[in-house]
Amino acid sequence: MAMRLLGTISLLIAMSATSVFGAAFVHGPYTGAPSSDSVTVSWISEPPVAARVEYGVRSENGDDQAFTDSINVPPLEDNILVDTTHAVLSGLDPATRYAYRVVLIEELEEFSSPTGYFATEPNAGDSVSFAVLADTQQQLEGVNRLELVADAIAADPMDFDFILHAGDVVESPSMMYWDHWFASFDDMLLRAPMIPVLGNHEDNHDSYFDAFELPPGAGKDNERWWALHWADLVVVGLDTNANKANEIRQQQAWAQQHLSGSETHKFVIFHHPVFLSNSESGDTTYFYDALYHPIFVENRVDIVFNGHSHHYEHIVRDGVTYLVVGGGGAELRETTPEDIQDSHVSVEDRYFYARVTTSPDGIAVETVSVAREIGGTAVLTPDLLLDSFFLPTEPASETDQATGAEPFQAIISAAALALIAFLGFHS
Ligand SMILES: [Fe+2]
Repeated sequence: MAMRLLGTISLLIAMSATSVFGAAFVHGPYTGAPSSDSVTVSWISEPPVAARVEYGVRSENGDDQAFTDSINVPPLEDNILVDTTHAVLSGLDPATRYAYRVVLIEELEEFSSPTGYFATEPNAGDSVSFAVLADTQQQLEGVNRLELVADAIAADPMDFDFILHAGDVVESPSMMYWDHWFASFDDMLLRAPMIPVLGNHEDNHDSYFDAFELPPGAGKDNERWWALHWADLVVVGLDTNANKANEIRQQQAWAQQHLSGSETHKFVIFHHPVFLSNSESGDTTYFYDALYHPIFVENRVDIVFNGHSHHYEHIVRDGVTYLVVGGGGAELRETTPEDIQDSHVSVEDRYFYARVTTSPDGIAVETVSVAREIGGTAVLTPDLLLDSFFLPTEPASETDQATGAEPFQAIISAAALALIAFLGFHS
């Protein structure tokens, strides 16, 4: 359990807060990799003891929740690269909302987690809701801004099917930061499966791949890029830290493959923005306009979510909506919206998250302001939206029309890849 050595202080705090017997949860429980008939429940306990995951169809009234099924999970074997227990619940019914809890077992004593929730893939035509956030690094002293955003999502009345994170989950992938992050986000993580992409601060570290179980993907641990096909929508997650031409080509092919299907609504999430008006980063960064934007235009992607720049921005290019959602709690950045074409909304002093609801009619997006940074402190902003818009579903006859620009875009993409191979890429 080498990765746990730096978390001793956080562990002692967690143990005193959550358990009166020996074993305690240090991370989680939380869920990931949802599908039509399964989900993965994950946690770290200290010490790593046996457990039982209990689950059942979610009751309408939380007071009479029944856990009708359970699986037993043996203690984690000592492994220098693995700290997190991942237990797969399989054989679930589709289009069903479930409740679960994890019971730690140590000799004759048991300790139960709070109740968490997840849903299996809904039926075609069903409405789907999810939340999106990014950049949850612990960077500021004083009020825990991460926890403000996390608790706002936890208290959101929507039934989220999953929560997307556009990367920079932690400031640095050490156990001290992971412990702080899991402690800050514990309530939110009980709401729905967590599905992140890699930010630059994760540094491609083993601890990220140990922590999260993601939809089917590829690259390291099959988790560097992934695709979630979920009833009427698809979400493709990419790793824009990739700096080798062959890794970028693989992701271009992955995006093309998974975005060219028949889903009504198409989303993409990755860390570095394609377009933004951050005064530090300028307009277009890192060649992503050449490498990926043409694929999104060709396949009529609805929304691309990015982080990295710590502000909110809503930009539309060639019919694709780009949202920079870097307001998850890290130190905020200034914007210069006058410097960029088609910046619809730009906000630089808020912590926030986005919530998205799809239906056969279209996609509704609301960006929820959680707090405003004023004079070095975070002031709550209840009942305030930074942005709200609706993207109506286009008739099939319109979505089938080709743009006619593909050959030119392919040349630009090939030129960008050749340049990357020759000059290298950002770190
Ligand atoms: Fe970043």
